[in-house]
Amino acid sequence: MRKLIPWVGSKTPLLWAIQSLLPVHFRKFVDVFGGSGTVTLNLQLPKNCLQIYNDLDHDLYNLLYCTKNKTLALTRELGFLPDNSRDTFDEVCRFLKMEEYGDRDLEEELALAKVLFDKPQAEEISRLLLQRSVPPDVRRAAAYYKMIRYSFNGQGNNYAVASCDIRQFFHQIWEVSRRLKDVVLENRDFESIIKKNNEPQTVLYCDPPYYKAERCYDVEFPRSDHQRLHDVLIVHEGFFMVSYNYCDFIKELYKECFIYYLERPNSQSRKKGSVYEECIITNYDPRVFARQITMYGDFGRDDRACKLVHIPDHPLKVE
Ligand SMILES: C[S@@+](CC[C@H](N)C(=O)[O-])C[C@H]1O[C@@H](n2cnc3c(N)ncnc32)[C@H](O)[C@@H]1O
Repeated sequence: MRKLIPWVGSKTPLLWAIQSLLPVHFRKFVDVFGGSGTVTLNLQLPKNCLQIYNDLDHDLYNLLYCTKNKTLALTRELGFLPDNSRDTFDEVCRFLKMEEYGDRDLEEELALAKVLFDKPQAEEISRLLLQRSVPPDVRRAAAYYKMIRYSFNGQGNNYAVASCDIRQFFHQIWEVSRRLKDVVLENRDFESIIKKNNEPQTVLYCDPPYYKAERCYDVEFPRSDHQRLHDVLIVHEGFFMVSYNYCDFIKELYKECFIYYLERPNSQSRKKGSVYEECIITNYDPRVFARQITMYGDFGRDDRACKLVHIPDHPLKVE
């Protein structure tokens, strides 16, 4: 398992199901809400398939960019400050919040872009502003990496009082760098990346912030974005797969799709045996496209069971 950082909502426990439900033939794979990159880094894809990682969080994008393209500089920067004291953690947080090194003009421009334009346009303008004034920044990537690694549960907000020598992760950074060699990295809002890749042979994998858990991330995901995501996906010419928490709102929203139900151990709960209910939604019938799945649609067993719980009247994607 290749891993760069721990991340809330990481798909490590569900990779086996995502892999099984993929269609067999396609030319491009887009990880629309890439997060830690776990899906991009670990899925097995057809030979010569172009892979795109995307996340709107600029710090995540910058970390992946520097891991891929500035590996030596990043590991050198991380090696300079190997202690994980609270002082280091606080300094790293100050740096990221730009309290000390801040660029006030940039912050004002980014805030204005949000007020003056609608979301996809504001995102495009922010991307250009960030590209112009914050070139891929190794210092920032190293600070961000430390903040995640030194924090409790990798959430970046509470200092974890546990010993952590950052140098133990260097081999992972090099391995991830090699894996990212041919992966295109993007830093866009989901709507613009989906529209940009609207082709019949493209698979979009979407792992958005979950319903009623939208505030777990630094980038804003208003509740209305679930509908915005649905509306842009439904007209996608290729294949799509979406991961969500299993709840009535999502079942209703995606009723024109196939819905698979699965459970995973709930790591946030102290109750023994507690499980978290998830679903994987597709616009195609995986029983036709994914050869390993039986006619009934269910696969796996015991704690790795995946059940087909909803079949639409007419599949959106048939070839
Ligand atoms: C559930 S996490 C993805 C986890 C990822 N699959 C993994 O395995 O680590 C959701 C991600 O969506 C990103 N995000 C939130 N709003 C977004 C938007 N409008 N466009 C693109 N990415 C967004 C967040 O930064 C967060 O990393």
